[in-house]
Amino acid sequence: MGDLLATIFDNQINKAMTNTELINEIKRLKAEKNAIILGHYYQIDEIQALSDHIGDSLELAQKAQQADAPIIVFCGVHFMAETAKILNPTRKVLLPDLEASCSLAESCAGPDLARFKAEHPDHIVVSYINCTAEVKALSDLICTSGNAEQLINALPKDQKIIFAPDKNLGGYINNKTGREMLLWNGVCTVHDAMEADTILNLKMENPDALVVAHPECNAAVLQVADFVGSTKAMLKFINASDKKRFIVATETGILYEMRNNNPDKEFIAVPNNGECACSDCAFMKMNTLEKLYRCLRDETPEITLSDEVIEKARKPIVRMLDMSRELGIIK
Ligand code: 13P
Ligand code: SF4
Repeated sequence: MGDLLATIFDNQINKAMTNTELINEIKRLKAEKNAIILGHYYQIDEIQALSDHIGDSLELAQKAQQADAPIIVFCGVHFMAETAKILNPTRKVLLPDLEASCSLAESCAGPDLARFKAEHPDHIVVSYINCTAEVKALSDLICTSGNAEQLINALPKDQKIIFAPDKNLGGYINNKTGREMLLWNGVCTVHDAMEADTILNLKMENPDALVVAHPECNAAVLQVADFVGSTKAMLKFINASDKKRFIVATETGILYEMRNNNPDKEFIAVPNNGECACSDCAFMKMNTLEKLYRCLRDETPEITLSDEVIEKARKPIVRMLDMSRELGIIK
């Protein structure tokens, strides 16, 4: 009962805090505790603005590995915070909302993948980083949308591969590399619900605009895109382009950095046919300023993993980072 009253009281205090107060408190606590905030491009604008580093999954994994701060607050989704913990296990890794999951990670349960692997003993498993630590521990190599094509190309041509869990990214890489990887049947519900017809209509209305798309989109969308790449790759493409208008087929959080980098350019977000028709990832948007403030203040919720999972899952992630360095994808 005492705890309940304390929570109600606490809720009332925090409800009364304005965004400016929350931002000031987050900055103060971050400095006091020597914490760093890693933020994904799909986070709300205010969280991106507060982050020490914003980036795609690959860049944030690298930043997490290099972090020497005692506390890493990961503003992204659960699998990203788990990756940070696996790469830097002596740090306290916090995630403002532990429920911030991912439809791709949820589509692939460890025991199911273990069974599929046992049915194909001559295949190796390459998993997209959007998967649980348990799935990473069963994998031979991890990739992100920022390095998948190059990493798969670097594997021996006759190597048989199971690719999990994103069938859209896997199918795109099969097309690009000429491989015939066996694909797990998972999708990102945000990207998969975008439709080529919507984009073609937007193109007709905006004939001067280029279409950029994330490879988690379905094959029909990718076919009508002028550029396909990770969040960071799309940003780089737009930053370098002479064009002034872009149709953006990915989660809408990325528009914050696209506009910041290119105040003279115009961005048209592609709505999806999902529940909100907005292309927001409900999981990414679970992290709020208030949850970030509480998370820094109370140092919870914390990511915890067994030593065994950390040890097994680290190998394919470190292999990904090493290969990415050798191939010149990252420094
Ligand atoms: P990026 O690695 O391209 O940032 O993608 C992460 C993600 O979850 C896309 O939906
Ligand atoms: Fe997962 Fe899709 Fe959300 Fe990315 S946008 S975190 S893939 S559900």
